[in-house]
Order: sequence, then C-alpha cells, then structure tokens
Amino acid sequence: MRIVAFNGSPRAAEGNTEVLLQAFLAGARAEGAETEVNYLATKDIAHCTGCFSCWTKTPGECVHRDDMPDLLLRVRSADVAVLAFPLYGNMVPGLMKDFIDRTFPLGHPAIKKIAGQYVHPARYADGKLRSVVISNAGFPETHHFDGLKATFRQSGDNPHAELLGMICCAGGPLLRTPDAAGKIRWYLDATQDAGREVVRNGRITPTTQAILDRSLASDPGEYAGWVNDYWRREGVVMPDEEEGAGYRVSSDPGQSLVDRGESTVRDLLARLASAFSADRGGDLRATIQFEVSDEKPGLYFLAIGSGRCSAHEGRASTADLTIRTPADVWLKVCAGELDGAAAFVSGQYQVVGDTALLMRFGTLFGGA
Ligand SMILES: Cc1cc2nc3c(=O)[nH]c(=O)nc-3n(C[C@H](O)[C@H](O)[C@H](O)COP(=O)(O)O)c2cc1C
Repeated sequence: MRIVAFNGSPRAAEGNTEVLLQAFLAGARAEGAETEVNYLATKDIAHCTGCFSCWTKTPGECVHRDDMPDLLLRVRSADVAVLAFPLYGNMVPGLMKDFIDRTFPLGHPAIKKIAGQYVHPARYADGKLRSVVISNAGFPETHHFDGLKATFRQSGDNPHAELLGMICCAGGPLLRTPDAAGKIRWYLDATQDAGREVVRNGRITPTTQAILDRSLASDPGEYAGWVNDYWRREGVVMPDEEEGAGYRVSSDPGQSLVDRGESTVRDLLARLASAFSADRGGDLRATIQFEVSDEKPGLYFLAIGSGRCSAHEGRASTADLTIRTPADVWLKVCAGELDGAAAFVSGQYQVVGDTALLMRFGTLFGGA
C-alpha cells in the first residue's frame, strides 16, 4: 500500500502536526506500507483563481505553472492520502486550503447523480480517493474540531472518496514538550495503531478512534496555566496583569527592597521583578517558584523572559528553580541580615532545580 501524506503546517517538519504524522506513518510502515511526506510549506502553490480553465480550455490542467501538477500526480498515485495540518481559526490553514482548492482539475465539470446524490464525476479512473485527516489544536477541548470534522465527513460522503478516520488532537502543543513526553505516549501509541489499522483493515477501528477522540490535555485548567506560563516566559503580559508585574505591591511601591519593615515575601518579589536587569538577564527564560512557609505562607513565582520579569501568585506549571523558605528567612536574606549561602548550607531554606540560577540573583536583580 502506498500512503502519500501532505503536511499543511507552515512549520512543516518542525511543527506539532509532524509528530502525529510520523507516528501514524511509522504504524503504517510496520504493516508494510510505503510512505511519503510532502511539506506544502516548501512548495509553490498559487491560489485558485476560479477561472475554470482546468474544466474548459485545458481540461485537467491548471493555468498556474507551479508545484501543483506534480502534487496532483502524487495524490493520484496514493492508495491512501493523508491530509495533516494544524487547526487554524477552527479550519484548515490557508496552505492546505489552497492545496485542496487546486485539486479541482481532478474533477469533471458535469454534475451527475451517483449513489443518490449529484456529484462531479472523477476525471481519471483512479478509483476512490481514500484519505485520513490528521490535525492538532492549541486549545485543550476537543469540540474545537466539530466544524472541521463535519466538513471532512461531508467531503468523504462522496462515491469517489472515502474517509478512513480522523486524528484530531486537542492540546497539540504538548506533542513537542519534553516534560510531557511520558504523559502523551498513549496518544502517540493510538496514532501508530491507527496507521497499522489503515493498512491492515482499511480504516481506523472504532476502538482506536475513540481513544484518538480524547484530548491530550486531561486537565484543561492545568493546561491553560502551562500555556500562560509559556507566554509569560516569552515576555507576554497577561490581560489581567500589569506590565512587568503579575500583581501589585500591597505596601508602598517605593519602599526599598532591603527595608524589611512590614514587608512580605509577596511584596518583596514584586520589587525584585521590577529591579530585574534586562541587560544582565540577556535571553534568559526561567520560572522561579517560591514556596513560603511561616506566619505568612504562600506560593509565588517569578517569570523571566524577553528581558522582563514579572511576579505572580500561585504555582507555576513548571519551574526551573524552586525555593522553599520560611518568610522570615527570605526577608532577612534579602535585607542582608542573613548570609544567603550560610542560611542555605545550614538548611534554613531549601532549593530544588537550577541552583546556578540562584547564584545569579545578585546580578539579575542587581539594583536590589
Ligand atoms: C493563525 C493561527 C490560528 C490558529 N487557530 C487555532 C484555532 O482556531 N483553534 C485552536 O485550538 N488552535 C489554533 N491555533 C493553534 C495551532 O493549532 C497550534 O499551535 C498547533 O499546535 C500548531 O501546529 P503546528 O506546530 O504543526 O503548526 C492557531 C494557530 C495559528 C498560528
């Protein structure tokens, strides 16, 4: 069996779509299929102009001189075509839409009633175009694919076509996240099974399809936190947070960092964030989690990225460095009343993760 895939992600082989596509093709190859991938982002594909020349003046041939004639031959050579793409605006990305539009020459202009409905007969006697759809979305809920699935089901409801299954993966950005590798294995395994089944049984079985219809992000709230932390590290300011600080300083914002007074670790971290030196931080991207115990316990984190630092309440989804400290210890360290290194060695606070980051505090928050 010859399986020809068309990857319509603008990120081509670097994208999340590719992870699913490769898993599917690996499964198909394990059953003896021959596979090929065409990256649409690397091809020259002009928009269809709607001139109908491919139906009239030059039947089967488009007016454009680009990579589509070659791609159409590849479509025609496939026993199964795989359309793989990220979800864009609840639909296919423009690249994939141009590709689909430009398959127009494969149809004949006549409309003919076949198997109870009017269709354009196929121009060539290639047999049915069997296809599998592979997509992935940034949102964690599967309902974002509802419109897309309905569209492809309709395209597959045609005597010349057959849709063998759809792999629509919500929470797609997890596919290339090293930390998530263990958590997403089940989805990649099912995607591989789907590849095997298409070769062996001619379709994705209902059991595998049911697994693939689940979201990769089992906890949408946790996933949203992870995504937002990512954007923070990219220097994005969240809509409900002020520039440079995730929350406001509750006491006098002008208060010196080293003036402990009535200060809290919460306020101190907001001041640290504003004292962050963009020059010294360079291209550092990091999340520093504080687990504060003592009379004013709390969870806070500093998000550093794109030359900015912001302070946030709560637990970050991932942290490069975690500092577990009684409030008083950390306030004393920052006020210079307690030697940070000595306090660490004597176990007055604990550190997990990238301790080199801790060593850079003096430089990163130089003003403080
Ligand atoms: C222009 C654009 C539109 C997008 N629209 C959606 C959308 O409607 N729904 C969604 O869940 N994700 C949307 N996303 C997110 C992508 O589907 C997601 O990042 C996906 O993992 C990208 O796959 P890729 O790396 O293979 O390109 C959009 C991304 C871009 C750049």
